[in-house]
Amino acid sequence: MEILDLRHMRSQDLEHLLEEEKQLWQRHLQWDYTASAALIKRFVDAHALPGYAAVDGGRTVGYSFYVYEDYKGLIGDVFVSGAFTDGATESELLRNVIETMQGTPGIRRIETQLMNFGDRPISQCFHSQNFQSFGRKFLFRELAGCPLSSLSHNRDIALAPWDPRWTSEAAHLITRAYHGHIDSAINDQYRSHAGAMRFLDNILHYPGCGRFDAGCSFLAFRKDTSRLCGMVLTSVVRDRVGHITQVCVDPEAQGTGLGFNLICESLQKLQQRRFHTVTLTVTAANSSALRLYEKMQFSTLRDFQAFVWDASGQDRSQPWNHQGNTQEPSAGGASSAPAGSEESDGSGRNSRSRL
Ligand SMILES: CC(C)(COP(=O)(O)OP(=O)(O)OC[C@H]1O[C@@H](n2cnc3c(N)ncnc32)[C@H](O)[C@@H]1OP(=O)(O)O)[C@@H](O)C(=O)NCCC(=O)NCCS
Repeated sequence: MEILDLRHMRSQDLEHLLEEEKQLWQRHLQWDYTASAALIKRFVDAHALPGYAAVDGGRTVGYSFYVYEDYKGLIGDVFVSGAFTDGATESELLRNVIETMQGTPGIRRIETQLMNFGDRPISQCFHSQNFQSFGRKFLFRELAGCPLSSLSHNRDIALAPWDPRWTSEAAHLITRAYHGHIDSAINDQYRSHAGAMRFLDNILHYPGCGRFDAGCSFLAFRKDTSRLCGMVLTSVVRDRVGHITQVCVDPEAQGTGLGFNLICESLQKLQQRRFHTVTLTVTAANSSALRLYEKMQFSTLRDFQAFVWDASGQDRSQPWNHQGNTQEPSAGGASSAPAGSEESDGSGRNSRSRL
């Protein structure tokens, strides 16, 4: 087995792998991977996708790629063809990717969430390179013929359809809602306004997390101050399958039924449009969110892991809060973490940002 630089490959070399991967995404996660696969092929043909391919007897049997976002590396994917999924090929690809990124000047952090991997044996490979791991869950809920509990309306809050003019305020809301939250340990974009803007840009404009659907996405405003205090964002990941890419509520409004109402609103819209399933991901340790989803009849489709490497080691000593926000957010919603410049790496790839 040879490990080759992905930038020396052509998309034809990966065609059969991507086809196999599409089937897997469909089967395991009800996700149509076509748009992501097309983007991967475009970048491979432009010799612009950094990563490695595993080649056995002249045939490509696996690949992994990564992108850089300023000081951070993101492992976009690792995929190995069925007959070769023994853990060794995956680990070899990942080892190459990780060592390349860790050896790149200026790269201080690496993140990845390998949803399609489930609990296959790759943790060892990450742990041996000093990564932290976080259990995550991919949840689903049937919509067809599955009645939603009635909404308990809060008179102080008004819900409105998504409007892109609120993007910057939505980014501030994310930094407030995730201040000190365990999900900020997994995705450091949640810690700064610039990072949250990048997160939203990915969700709204790139296919990594499905095609954004404004009609099933909602904002919540306090009627007295007109301040944005909650939102739910939804994408379409397959014909008639929706995916909630973000739901968050201002700390001061949490526990009042707003998260429930926002999700209900989105599910009702999806139901009206004859979607049959909705999915989302949640960190296993985010117990209050998980409890809410279970009450709303979501069930686990798959367990997977997120992995994070932080060169400074600071993240390990942070008191991440699993429930949400007992710590005070800093003024204006800005994060206490350094924002870093949020320039694009020009690849057009996104980090497949998730909840
Ligand atoms: C997770 C989050 C979106 C939930 O929103 P919320 O407004 O705090 O939640 P709600 O008030 O709607 O629900 C809280 C509780 O009331 C219950 N509830 C609220 N309205 C209800 C209704 N109409 N019927 C039944 N139960 C209801 C919920 O099930 C939940 O029960 P619990 O007390 O046992 O936990 C919010 O806490 C948040 O933003 N957290 C930080 C970011 C985050 O974790 N996002 C999710 C990432 S996956």
